Amino acid sequence: MSIAIVILAAGKGTRMLSDLPKALHKIGHATLLEHVMLSASTLEPEKTVVVVGHEAKMVADLARDIDDAVLIVEQKEQLGTAHAVSQAKEILNGFNGDILVLYADTPFIKPETINSIKEARKKADLVVLGFDSKEPGRYGRIIANGRHIRKIVEFKDASEAERELTLCNSGVMAGPASLIISLIGQVKNENAAGEYYLTDCIELANTQGKSAMVVRCSETETLGVNSRLDLALAEAEFQKKARQDHIENGVTLLAPNTVFFALDTVIGPDAVIEQNVVFGPKVTIESGVNIKPFSHLDGTHISKGAVVGPFARLRPGSEIGEHATVGNFVEVKNAIIGDKSKINHLSYLGDAKVGKSANIGAGSITCNYDGVMKHHTKIGDGAFIGSNTMMVAPITIGKDAMTASGSVITKDVPEEALALGRGTQENKPRLARKLMKILKQRKQKKDIG
Ligand code: UD1
Ligand code: CA
Repeated sequence: MSIAIVILAAGKGTRMLSDLPKALHKIGHATLLEHVMLSASTLEPEKTVVVVGHEAKMVADLARDIDDAVLIVEQKEQLGTAHAVSQAKEILNGFNGDILVLYADTPFIKPETINSIKEARKKADLVVLGFDSKEPGRYGRIIANGRHIRKIVEFKDASEAERELTLCNSGVMAGPASLIISLIGQVKNENAAGEYYLTDCIELANTQGKSAMVVRCSETETLGVNSRLDLALAEAEFQKKARQDHIENGVTLLAPNTVFFALDTVIGPDAVIEQNVVFGPKVTIESGVNIKPFSHLDGTHISKGAVVGPFARLRPGSEIGEHATVGNFVEVKNAIIGDKSKINHLSYLGDAKVGKSANIGAGSITCNYDGVMKHHTKIGDGAFIGSNTMMVAPITIGKDAMTASGSVITKDVPEEALALGRGTQENKPRLARKLMKILKQRKQKKDIG
């Protein structure tokens, strides 16, 4: 059975109180739309249609970034979920398979659950994903007899007795394209919200001799994001799940609740992630890496056996070589650090390439920005950069070269050379003692005066 997925993402998300369309809010550094599109893609649908409306271009561009084969339709006015699905009618013309409707504000539906909906479709014309909730709040209520659904009532339209029901509608619905399109054509907007509800298709289907069935899943999976509070709860759920997944994949987390992941974080087995580590987007870590406490990583690749932190900041474009060390209060940005190189304390390496087995002394930095442009620094294999060296880019420091501590390096340093770039020290015999005496006398005069 071929499947077309229709993702509803036209809503403004009024309850978010945001200029950003709801589908673009993020969980685990990935937009809600990305979460939904990723789990939908595991079904290998024949078509994926995203319905955009509020900030249409912004949402469409994001959808195309995620999947360049995605089809976009625009819902000019947001007149309800049935009206949103009906916008896909033309683009699905001639498509004979099933439609699966997903909401962009419901990010955690698992691929396994979508598969069980697909299975259930063998037994009923329409399948709705539902969940039991102790606090059903404003979700639509499913009125069912066993697995058979009679109708779905929106919270706003529900009677007191219906509001007591705990089986809720997740919004996910599947059925033959021809049936769904015909039913949404018959939906009316005579309800509390004055909207065309997709959920009304169920009662219509029943009156026309078609069957509707509910498939249940857990409440966390169907969590709908409508407000900032929902977003925070969804983030917490995501982190809980991400921690479990990484642990199950062989990663040691010393204090799981203090480590925060992105949707795309990849960590190899036998890595040890210590307390209070934050992963931004696009971080990949090979096996056996140790990330020490209070480190923040973004857009970084770390190779086997490297040690990072405590208090390290790795920014986008950082590539840390095998068994390299990046120690405390070190910031790396857009820089390749070769195997076994060491940057142990208080340094900034930006727009740089450091060879293998180099040693960057404490307090050394690349002066990569002249106020207008960024410049590159190259440090050869085995180079030894003395403490507090300023490397004024563009600059090349050769293989096995050394810089004296406190140097300001403004000229390239040839291989194996020692660069001294600092004022020459002069010692004045006994001057310290004399100076101290004079200073004390001055203070005494001032105190008396
Ligand atoms: C909807 C369901 C409700 C269910 C809940 C689950 C309907 C009528 N109600 O309510 O039964 O319990 O989801 O989370 O379906 N959208 C459009 N165009 C529109 C209206 C909405 O694209 O004209 C999109 C929104 O962007 C959102 C999704 O559809 O992604 C759901 O809309 P929303 O207004 O959040 O519906 P709920 O009130 O949450
Ligand atoms: Ca919603």
